[in-house]
Amino acid sequence: MSLSSRSIEHPSHSLGSASAAASVNIALIKYWGKADVDSNRPAVGSLSLTLDEWGSETTVTWLEKKESRAEHRFILNGQERLDSKVNKLLTHLLQYAEAEGHSWAKQGQVSAVVESKNTVPTASGLASSASGMAALGLAAWSALGWPNPSLNNDIHGGSQLIDLVRIGSGSAVRSLKGGLVRLESDGRTMTQLCERDEWSLALVICIVDPGPKAISSREGMERTRLTSPYYDRWVSSHPHDLNAATEAVNERDLGKLGELMEHSTFKMHAAMWSAKPPLRYLKAKSLMILDEVEQLRSRGSAAWATMDAGPHVKILCERSEAAHIATHMKSIIGQRSVLIRHPGRAAHIIGEKRDV
Ligand code: PMV
Repeated sequence: MSLSSRSIEHPSHSLGSASAAASVNIALIKYWGKADVDSNRPAVGSLSLTLDEWGSETTVTWLEKKESRAEHRFILNGQERLDSKVNKLLTHLLQYAEAEGHSWAKQGQVSAVVESKNTVPTASGLASSASGMAALGLAAWSALGWPNPSLNNDIHGGSQLIDLVRIGSGSAVRSLKGGLVRLESDGRTMTQLCERDEWSLALVICIVDPGPKAISSREGMERTRLTSPYYDRWVSSHPHDLNAATEAVNERDLGKLGELMEHSTFKMHAAMWSAKPPLRYLKAKSLMILDEVEQLRSRGSAAWATMDAGPHVKILCERSEAAHIATHMKSIIGQRSVLIRHPGRAAHIIGEKRDV
């Protein structure tokens, strides 16, 4: 909810601040459904591509506030907002810090000012929450002066930063790594399958409707789990797709990966459509784009489509084919609705300031 666009003042004593940048990631093998709602533990693993030049830059400043109860503030693209996910992530971090023996972290004595810039339309199924929560988690963590475990090449289960970011968004943890990333169903164990420059892939993003989605992923996942007759089959058939897609990445076999990606997306949407009431994120235009992707393929293009909890269609292809595919899609849905993105880097720190 937008409150106002007041300028940001930091009247209280600052403990430190850090800025982080993170890019969106798009799942090729989807995560949909939670094994545990509170910790946001997924019911299935996933495999994703982190993109370049598209995401969030976030600065977190921790303030010590002795007089009155401290509240976190969140300013997105210059507008102050209330966001329960942001509050939940920050509260979780303070609880963790307190449990680790940091007495300053006592609830109500420390608060954060979060200033974030998003270059992706917010909450419209373009994974803005992934980049947003990864940048927030990393900045909030680093502003306390703690080292970034994601700089370490191997993020194994147990990383508190992963758990923290997952509190905000289950898919966001994948943005802590660049290139092609596999996340296990524990929601914590991540493997980078391929560096961003090791396979010259591209995603052609067809934006169908940039407005916010009517039903959040969180609510949609629970509705699917509770009411879709296909949900159990979605979960039980998922490991096969994840393992086969991992093999396809290791073999750099785009045809195999593309087919598995489409299978995963259609299975996920079938489970969504069969929920009660149905979750139909796709629009007529999305289906029209899917027809075009089939046409492109029948004319020899190596192109496959994927859709998330929104109407947009993302087309996976080789980098060398992206311009041609994008030109074709622009002629159908308009010049400004089509973008090309390439594999991108992991979330990273872009500035730090220690005041104590
Ligand atoms: O992490 P969330 O709550 O934004 O859910 C993401 C769900 C999908 O985008 C549909 C699939 C995925 O794995 O990213």
